[in-house]
Amino acid sequence: MDAVQQLAEALRASKYAVVLTGAGASTESGLPDFRSKAGLWQQVDPMKILSMTALRRTPVAFYQFYHQRLTHLRDAKPNPVHIGLAALQQAGYVKCLITQNIDGLHQAAGSTDVVEMHGSLRECVCLDCGRRYPSDLIDVEVNTEADIPHCPECRGVLKPSVVLFEEALPVDAIERAVAATEQSDLFVVIGSSLEVGPVNQLPALAVHGGADLAIINLDSTYMDRHARWLIREKAGAVVTQICQHLGL
Ligand code: APR
Ligand code: ZN
Repeated sequence: MDAVQQLAEALRASKYAVVLTGAGASTESGLPDFRSKAGLWQQVDPMKILSMTALRRTPVAFYQFYHQRLTHLRDAKPNPVHIGLAALQQAGYVKCLITQNIDGLHQAAGSTDVVEMHGSLRECVCLDCGRRYPSDLIDVEVNTEADIPHCPECRGVLKPSVVLFEEALPVDAIERAVAATEQSDLFVVIGSSLEVGPVNQLPALAVHGGADLAIINLDSTYMDRHARWLIREKAGAVVTQICQHLGL
């Protein structure tokens, strides 16, 4: 049996399999990831565009970036990674799906109880009064400061409900992710460079707790040497093969 078939059998035998996805799970939906050769961070410096400082100091560039992201996202559809993972979850092979992605494509494919570690682009939040709104409120052309959208209630600053650099992650997401990881006997990383903490600690926590680790990723990660299965292939085909092997 090849590594993909072995991983499928490991999923079948597992008691509590956890999957962690990153931007590489959405590239086959046409959404660029961040750190591979065609990634977003080859064009922009994340600290200059995706931090709380950037929102305060260069709001026009900040909202222009998010307008572009939202436009891209609107046309994105779930790909075989999202569709296959939803099927694996519904069939009971995947007990918890943790994602770093903000695109909502796992839910669009039918996955439930997705642990969104970096928030989501579905909403935006007022930094002054805390009210939440659908993200189309910030999905506007911004050319000058006069175009910047403000909270309809208190005129405060609106921020997409994603975790920016310099921001803490949502506590409930961390608690759910750590609890699931500690319970896992199989931990599968799909499409993540594992470069960004604290999410990148989850695979190490799983291995520390005795779980088997699988990594499906085109580039190397710091956890590769701990992986029982290291699959350097496109995740869409791999997840589809796993589902076929399990008769889904
Ligand atoms: N199949 C398998 N692997 C893929 C595919 C694919 N189709 N496409 C890309 N990859 C791999 C790349 O090789 C890369 O190592 O996915 C990985 C994506 O890594 P990153 O771009 O670093 O994305 P991610 O790990 O999700 O980044 C974490 O960084 O900028 C922040 O908040 C952002 O959530 C993001 C976090
Ligand atoms: Zn407000």
